[in-house]
Amino acid sequence: MLPPPIYDIRKSYDENYQFGPFFSGIPPKPIPSTQHTLFLGKTVSSRIGIPAGPLLNSRWIGFYARMGFDILTYKTVRSHYHPSYPNPNCLYVPYHKSFDLDDLTHPLIGTLAYNPGSLNDITITNSFGMPSQSPAVWMEDVQKARELLSPGQVLVVSIVGTQQDDTDLASDFVRTAKLAREAGADLIEVNFSCPNVKGKEGQLYQNPDASGAILKRLRKELGSDVSLIMKIGFIEDPVQISALVDQTSPFLDAISAINTVTGQIINPEGHPALPGPGRERAGLCGGGIKPLSLRTIHSIRTAIGKQRKPITLIGVGGFNTVEDYPEFRDAGADFVMSATGAMWDPFLAYHVKQRRFLQDLPENG
Ligand SMILES: Cc1cc2nc3c(=O)[nH]c(=O)nc-3n(C[C@H](O)[C@H](O)[C@H](O)COP(=O)(O)O)c2cc1C
Repeated sequence: MLPPPIYDIRKSYDENYQFGPFFSGIPPKPIPSTQHTLFLGKTVSSRIGIPAGPLLNSRWIGFYARMGFDILTYKTVRSHYHPSYPNPNCLYVPYHKSFDLDDLTHPLIGTLAYNPGSLNDITITNSFGMPSQSPAVWMEDVQKARELLSPGQVLVVSIVGTQQDDTDLASDFVRTAKLAREAGADLIEVNFSCPNVKGKEGQLYQNPDASGAILKRLRKELGSDVSLIMKIGFIEDPVQISALVDQTSPFLDAISAINTVTGQIINPEGHPALPGPGRERAGLCGGGIKPLSLRTIHSIRTAIGKQRKPITLIGVGGFNTVEDYPEFRDAGADFVMSATGAMWDPFLAYHVKQRRFLQDLPENG
């Protein structure tokens, strides 16, 4: 049986925010780095990171930085306070094979009553509704987080815009990005892909024109000294991927793919497993979505190869074990990040680095 996750899925977002990470081990000694690489113009000690998700605040960032993850993404923030959906926010989805699209056409069981036997068995659903602290709180905390990094580590801040009565969506993306910039962030990820929100901000990446228009405004208003990353979800059709990359790449530095994949989640009695309206469908992540993420990454790699400008590709979605890492690199990811895997195995980056160090492979390879 595996030790419990250090992001405690039995506890609410607020409890994890206030009291996590729940780790009682000893952080490893850093593995000497023989090679460095550039991530959007900044030196990093490895290609391994954590996407927007479990890093709720600077305590979480500082912890995972000590565990050897070198690219750390601050969980998506908004221009205003926004509460989380009530607990539970995460449930196991004990489905003993990887998903294909057909598997997602029927309901899946979500439960806390499951003991995964191995890291490969961990697929979960998460449903938070993109909570955010108020800018006064997260801006100060982003500054703190930056101070906790070692040389060779970088912080990305994930932001999202919200359609509000007095502001259109694009203006709120700009406003939030400017707040992140003011807090010191120069690597900003724009989240165009949250399946767990009801507003327009949820699935923007499925509309290439709207995505391009927002990025064009962000680039114009932020200038060129900020690197912009676009976070997208699963796309099956390579033609649709090409259209998205064509419309957005002039304004972008990197693409991060994929966010969670949506499924209908029921409890063992057949009722919705997550309480409250709008949560019948929720995002799936972890081992089960790996084939879907690798397919999307591969198609994005092909599409960005046709662009004039180099675009960095960050692979996310089912990187749960050391063995998964080269699969993402082979699919075309320049950098590889783990959310679910890192929640259960905070030593994941250390073990990838150790394996490559012992096999005398460049850790950047
Ligand atoms: C607990 C948790 C919270 C997440 N919150 C966010 C978020 O705020 N913004 C975002 O873009 N993605 C979020 N994600 C999605 C991850 O960034 C990632 O795209 C997805 O989980 C697939 O990666 P994985 O299989 O390694 O978990 C979250 C994932 C998890 C597990």
